[in-house]
Amino acid sequence: MFEHLNAVPPDPILGILAAYAADTNPRKIDLGIGVYRDETGNTPILQSVVKAEKTLIATQTTKSYLGPPGVAGFNDAMGELIFGHDSDTIKQGRVRTIQTPGGTAALRVGADLIRHTRPESGIWASDPTWANHLALFPAAGLPMDSYPYFDEINSDLRYEDMMEALKNRGAGDVVLFHACCHNPCGVSPDPAQWESITDLAAERGFTPMVDMAYMGFERGVEEDSLAVRLFSKKCPEVIVASSCSKNFAVYRERVGAISIVCENEQKAADVESVIHSLTRKNYSMPPTHGPGIIDIILHSDELTELWLSEVNAMRNRINGLRKTLAEKISASGISKDFSFLERQSGMFSFLGLSVEQVGRLKNEFAIYTVNSARVNIASFNDGNMDYFIEALATVL
Ligand SMILES: Cc1ncc(COP(=O)(O)O)c(C=O)c1O
Repeated sequence: MFEHLNAVPPDPILGILAAYAADTNPRKIDLGIGVYRDETGNTPILQSVVKAEKTLIATQTTKSYLGPPGVAGFNDAMGELIFGHDSDTIKQGRVRTIQTPGGTAALRVGADLIRHTRPESGIWASDPTWANHLALFPAAGLPMDSYPYFDEINSDLRYEDMMEALKNRGAGDVVLFHACCHNPCGVSPDPAQWESITDLAAERGFTPMVDMAYMGFERGVEEDSLAVRLFSKKCPEVIVASSCSKNFAVYRERVGAISIVCENEQKAADVESVIHSLTRKNYSMPPTHGPGIIDIILHSDELTELWLSEVNAMRNRINGLRKTLAEKISASGISKDFSFLERQSGMFSFLGLSVEQVGRLKNEFAIYTVNSARVNIASFNDGNMDYFIEALATVL
């Protein structure tokens, strides 16, 4: 069976993790892995999650299967969180939100749904996009292409080029967007640009698919769903893949959801039935522990308030680090302009370094990042920022 099988190289991020763990330099810094970190370098469990988990454990009476839709309270609450408490899309019965094991599975279920419904559809993603998008959609049998997005020279959005390219997309095409905190480049359309992008989707008739992995990390939980809500208002069909990994910090519990907006209530019911048949052939039944926790948080005013304060604290810390880093780099005498760090959002930005400079950061300073020089801003803290800037000045 396996005589022709060859090992595949590990994911570059995992390679960095292993090299970082083996490094004995006490000043080492890991800027690669995409998890939130606090000032002490820890990825803490949120207090809202700790409290809800206690309630869940005290009240659950069985671990029997719950059925393909999973935790109904989670699905309802996530729907409201994404589309809004007073959402017309929900009132019209046009949307179904169904839990998945993380945002990655939401994307994969979405991809399987597209392939099932319209196998000839292609999917267009921003250039660049999350590396796993490039693996996941082709693995589901969907051809991928890209549209211009990131301007490497100015570290900004190629808005005009993107709009020109999207004018060529139409019915049957799926266009993938990052709702906020673009991974890897940290650049997002502003609200006025989202208005125009969503108008264009309605005009051209392509199907928007929105990856929302960092809701709450850019401008706020409500604000970050702007793109999803505009698409849902203007377009007959929208696919949304959301993740609770970052904003609830429940990474390893694997919590996410797929939301499908349809033209009418009957179509939404039909699509839901197809999703259940697709997931039955894949992971059969969804895990319920993580969604059970989030169900409790989102159905308690007190815990929701606590959770929102915790999301806001994570976002404010990242934004504070962006500002301090940009200011300190500028004050250090480095002539290259890094002020874009402050304009961008979320955990990731490209530093604009060569592979050779990334190698020097690693070999001479034990500072680890991927070859593209995408860094996780949340990995910085008061204790390591000055050392990083010294290293940066040297390699530049
Ligand atoms: C852009 C993007 N989409 C989706 C995900 C999926 O996250 P998860 O499957 O851990 O919920 C991530 C995680 O890093 C991401 O960066």
